[in-house]
Amino acid sequence: MGTIDISNNDFQRLSQLIYSESGINIHIGKMELLKSKIAKRMRTTQISSCHDYLNYLMNNQSEITEFIDTVTTNHSFFFRENKSIQNMIEVLSNENKTHARVFKIWCAACSTGDEPYSVAVQMIEKGLQFSILATDIAHSVLNTAMRGVYSHERVKNVPISILHKYFQKGTGRSTGYIRVKKEVMKYIEFKKFNLITDAIPDEKFDVVLCRNVMIYFDDPTTEKVINRLYHALKIGGFFIIGQAESLMSLRHHFKSVKNTPSTFIK
Ligand SMILES: C[S@@+](CC[C@H](N)C(=O)[O-])C[C@H]1O[C@@H](n2cnc3c(N)ncnc32)[C@H](O)[C@@H]1O
Repeated sequence: MGTIDISNNDFQRLSQLIYSESGINIHIGKMELLKSKIAKRMRTTQISSCHDYLNYLMNNQSEITEFIDTVTTNHSFFFRENKSIQNMIEVLSNENKTHARVFKIWCAACSTGDEPYSVAVQMIEKGLQFSILATDIAHSVLNTAMRGVYSHERVKNVPISILHKYFQKGTGRSTGYIRVKKEVMKYIEFKKFNLITDAIPDEKFDVVLCRNVMIYFDDPTTEKVINRLYHALKIGGFFIIGQAESLMSLRHHFKSVKNTPSTFIK
């Protein structure tokens, strides 16, 4: 298959579709990247013309799901930006001393599971009771998350004592990889969830992490998402965003937490 020609009109239709389905803001600078994603789906669906593929896509919800899955950026690794997680766990730990609780945590764009597993092992280390809901729009990353098998590269920031305690060497098909132990997995429920279109769960959480996904959204979408997530938190609950993200210049009701730029409180 040669290079793909995509008209301006088709590019606009496609970026509009991606925006309305996922909130992801694809600008013209991402044209080449988008073309490679289209080419991948054209090979899978065995449609040889880009125009035909786009018509097929626009009228087929299951293909839209697959396409959005391809368009997402899923980069993640264990103990990424861990300072804000450490701070949060410290506070929960202190709260637990005065009043023992089962903490409910939501990782709202969990990608391949590195983030919820990182939170889980640190919560276990502190002797805390908890459950984690870990969600993402992309089903392919959730499959990886549920398998819990990772390359050594991905776990290289995990402190060695934690690595020995909560991970094991993969065997069989997973030989050469690292596997998260079952005793960690049992704390996490992985589920598909679209931050833009799905109804926010009725249950209220002590902590919501929504890290390194809003960088792909524009301000109106980010504002909508953070205000939706606000309703998922208990009063006094923590909202944690990525280091490269900011709530400045957005309308919201969160209070910032002194000396912890990525953490907010309801
Ligand atoms: C770069 S990863 C971040 C993973 C993890 N939070 C971290 O910080 O390492 C961004 C994730 O956001 C997900 N995502 C993008 N748009 C989404 C949406 N509308 N709803 C839910 N998840 C979304 C992507 O599928 C991707 O897995």
